Amino acid sequence: MFTGEIDPAGIPIGMVTVITDFAKKLETVINFIPPIPVVIMELLHALDDENTNMNTIARIIAKDPPMSMNVLKVANSAFYRLANKVATVDHAVSMLGVKEIGMICVSCGAYQALKPPANAGTFDLQEFWKHSVATGVIAKKICRELAVGDRNTIYFGGLLHDIGKIVLDRFAHEVYRIVMQVTHEECLPMIEAEKRIIGESHDSIGGLIMERWRFPVALVDVTRYHHSVSRCPELTRPTVAVCALADELARIRCFGFGGDKSGIVLTETEAFRVLSEVSPAASSVDVFRLICDLEAADDEIVEMERILTG
Ligand SMILES: [Fe+2]
Ligand SMILES: [Fe+2]
Repeated sequence: MFTGEIDPAGIPIGMVTVITDFAKKLETVINFIPPIPVVIMELLHALDDENTNMNTIARIIAKDPPMSMNVLKVANSAFYRLANKVATVDHAVSMLGVKEIGMICVSCGAYQALKPPANAGTFDLQEFWKHSVATGVIAKKICRELAVGDRNTIYFGGLLHDIGKIVLDRFAHEVYRIVMQVTHEECLPMIEAEKRIIGESHDSIGGLIMERWRFPVALVDVTRYHHSVSRCPELTRPTVAVCALADELARIRCFGFGGDKSGIVLTETEAFRVLSEVSPAASSVDVFRLICDLEAADDEIVEMERILTG
């Protein structure tokens, strides 16, 4: 049993057996990542095809009633500021576009597929979702302000970047609880606590899931490299840097806790450095104004989190 004491290797005393078991379990986790839901596979396939039109997307979505409901809720949310309410999926697709609607469905579907069963112990999913939505919303704002990264991918990259945490928590809840505890008690970056206690971290697990599910490469890279932006392939680095910076900003704005909140100096983060390299406009951005301006997005974040988890 975990006593709260830490051994010289930095592992909580009593955790060795659990960790040994977990190493075996991790292999199982990777092999048993649930298959991608058929509707998501169809959507990804359609989104990848340049000839896909609104009717094709609307037809795929209409086959899944809960997904259709979500599309209408999201399209009518304050986030999109549409002048008139939309009542049908066709209308939503025509207002927001094929890519935007398609990716809303893909993101919702991915989380639904990994949703824990009722009564299962989990970490604070509401906080998790708030952080994910905040990262997506903020990433979109940075993208707009600096004209960096792929606009169609940025929001969904932010939304899905920490998907590996859901998997780790779902398949190894007891061990992940200890990761959280160590993160809070030692003010250690979560990724460091994961590596120390589990031997793997949520970015690599998340990247693996996205790859297995054949998500677009930019989304795979956001998930895999958001904590190591400079290791990211050049092609997707601007998109990954925007999402990584949004991840830091979301935590600065208190949407989520990564273990090192008090120590974040935005301009000294790897994400900011890489972003400045790919966009000269980033280095001259007024960081203080950027953080203050984000206050206006708080309501959007809370509303979107409610819709997606509702
Ligand atoms: Fe992360
Ligand atoms: Fe994050």
